[in-house]
Amino acid sequence: MEIQQGLRSHIRFYFDGELRILNDVRPSDMVMRWLRSEAMRTGTKEGCNEGDCGACTCVVGHLNESGAIQFRVINTCIYPLAYLDGGWLISVETLSRTGSLATVQREMLPLNLSQCGFCTPGFVMATFYAQISEQDQTPEEALAGNLCRCTGYGGLIEAARAAQNLPIDSAFAAEIQKAEQILGDLSMGGFSISTGDSRIDAPSELQQLLELRDHFPSATLVAGATDFGLWVTKKLDKPAHTILTKFCQELVSMNLGPDEVEVGAAVSIEDFGNVLISEYPELRKWLKRFGGPQVRCSGTVGGNIANGSPIGDSSPVLIALGATLKLRSRHAERILPIEDFFIEYGNQDLRPDEVLVSVLVPRRSDIKRLVVEKISKRHDQDISIVLAAMVELASGVSRYRFAFGGMAGTPMLARKTMESLNPDDLASDFSPLSDHRADAWYRLAVSKNLVDNFLSGSALNE
Ligand SMILES: Cc1cc2nc3c(=O)[nH]c(=O)nc-3n(C[C@H](O)[C@H](O)[C@H](O)COP(=O)(O)OP(=O)(O)OC[C@H]3O[C@@H](n4cnc5c(N)ncnc54)[C@H](O)[C@@H]3O)c2cc1C
Ligand code: FES
Ligand code: FES
Repeated sequence: MEIQQGLRSHIRFYFDGELRILNDVRPSDMVMRWLRSEAMRTGTKEGCNEGDCGACTCVVGHLNESGAIQFRVINTCIYPLAYLDGGWLISVETLSRTGSLATVQREMLPLNLSQCGFCTPGFVMATFYAQISEQDQTPEEALAGNLCRCTGYGGLIEAARAAQNLPIDSAFAAEIQKAEQILGDLSMGGFSISTGDSRIDAPSELQQLLELRDHFPSATLVAGATDFGLWVTKKLDKPAHTILTKFCQELVSMNLGPDEVEVGAAVSIEDFGNVLISEYPELRKWLKRFGGPQVRCSGTVGGNIANGSPIGDSSPVLIALGATLKLRSRHAERILPIEDFFIEYGNQDLRPDEVLVSVLVPRRSDIKRLVVEKISKRHDQDISIVLAAMVELASGVSRYRFAFGGMAGTPMLARKTMESLNPDDLASDFSPLSDHRADAWYRLAVSKNLVDNFLSGSALNE
């Protein structure tokens, strides 16, 4: 397939007072490498290079439908450079570009929050995001994606708490106005960049995305890149061709219907979680323990399902709620219950020419009780050992739905236990693995306790 006529062959974004135009962008190029090696902004630090430590944290802004800038906090080590298209990149240097420190930096300075200082720029940016984003989050939640190995967290949390109540600096407010005007003249996506041995396609419409998928079944579909980024930085993959989904309008939209909420596959975990919480407030704790803010702002619901991970946190919840998936190819559309999507470990019901377009989540109606429990070694930013999502319906013959992650090669329903309501039957439903996170006996024991608590009405997070 030739590059479509009229598509741009470069990306454009706003950074430190200038419009940047880059032609030579490759699938494996991440924002951090560009910042430190090309823009020579070395305030942004490289720590883990896998999304865990937050040392590389920056903020990006893109215009939303109403023309205002929506900010997101990102780990630049695993954020594809191409995703800056049409946006505004804010690094730690941007904050003091006018010559004086930003209010969050002034707030942090007297508290002596830095020893070796390596994590400090990342904490400054996460705290700055806490100031500007107006998210419903505690200071601890705002900093859950940032690690410090030397200084105590007490002062850092105090600074984040103070920042949440600070007005935006007047110099920065003026910069926001300027950026809004500049971004207003830029489109987001709709480009195709070839460098000789690599290619990035960034369709802005679903039809283009489906055609690209059809023509290039071996190209890598990339959504939020929180998995993909690690293939590049840790497995040292050099992907030859990526197709980006996050500029595709249909994939980033959400519709609240009378019976269900339809969420585009490329909607971020943060936005998806917040829309679910408006229907199911019990899910707040689940959302806040999904990665940290940086992972939730980049990672998508579609990526979390399509990667087929048995320990992904959204699939058990969606299975318990009875969600369905909309899959499309150029020629056909299929809707299937999410539990049928997972065939076995590493094998999903997704054809080479198909794309996961959206997730359809039933609205509350008949659901009387929903409890979700994540068992992991650390409270924040950790992968689940077991995730249990348990639902009690108000009526009907089958009143219970129990879905688990971490108990089998795929996320799945505990069908026998749902029928018998005997937690011992989990041993018939599942034969979990032992791995570095937990032994099989522990997974079974903790799951039995969770079902037991749920059935006796004493679940921990009610
Ligand atoms: C530090 C860190 C913490 C994390 N914490 C958690 C956690 O607490 N819970 C958890 O569940 N996960 C966690 N993850 C894993 C990851 O963030 C999630 O799985 C995320 O939702 C993946 O989505 P993505 O958009 O980033 O996927 P990508 O990396 O873009 O893609 C993942 C896979 O899905 C495919 N894909 C993406 N979109 C589509 C589509 N529309 N149609 C078909 N295929 C598609 C891609 O081709 C790829 O194979 C964490 C990751 C990191 C780095
Ligand atoms: S360097 Fe650790 S999150 Fe990016
Ligand atoms: S001050 Fe050294 S890592 Fe935080």
